[in-house]
Amino acid sequence: MATAAGTPRRFGILISGRGSNMEALARAALAGEIPARPAVVISNEASAGGLRVAQGLGLPTAVVDHRDSADRATHDRRVQGVLEEHGAELVCLAGYMRLLSASFVAAFPARILNIHPSLLPAFPGLDAQRQALEHGAKVSGCTVHFVDADLDSGPIIAQTAVPVAEDDTEASLSRRILAEEHRLYVGAVRLYFQDRLRLEGRRVRIAEAPGG
Ligand code: GRF
Repeated sequence: MATAAGTPRRFGILISGRGSNMEALARAALAGEIPARPAVVISNEASAGGLRVAQGLGLPTAVVDHRDSADRATHDRRVQGVLEEHGAELVCLAGYMRLLSASFVAAFPARILNIHPSLLPAFPGLDAQRQALEHGAKVSGCTVHFVDADLDSGPIIAQTAVPVAEDDTEASLSRRILAEEHRLYVGAVRLYFQDRLRLEGRRVRIAEAPGG
């Protein structure tokens, strides 16, 4: 899909580590399964393994180290600058381990998505899979949501449930959830670029596919 001017729509991906969700999104977009182009992968950590993966896929990458900025707002303005330079319309957080400033969130209204490894609103924050096990949950899963000013709290776009097995460890549960995360995130970003997400208050309605 292209804009009226004929240029493809673009998204940026923010990571801090391994970047397997970034890779799933980038590969899907490069294969034409998402009607948009991955414009840039930005990490706040120079050592993030995902940067090498992105480079291997031929994507532009940037390191914006948060330690180089005096405060969160300054760091976020630098990240915003790189996203804008690359024409990113949508921002996908993919294991990005930083809270966002209110001004960054306001700069991309309903245009920031995040993936979280639990069925929100259960188990927000760090170590969601461990939280689920420690709570004794029988079902966990993953959630893609719009990002608002609070942590893991924005309107939910899509979720997949993953049963907790009797013998699950944090590692085994995380592995099964991660496989679902990759599918879920690709599907949600596809819906975004198909212009099928309608935000009504906290509720995200998914419009029928044209002709479908
Ligand atoms: C994923 O579990 C994601 O849900 C969470 O951080 C992890 C990132 O993994 N926000 P990866 O870097 O995408 O492999």
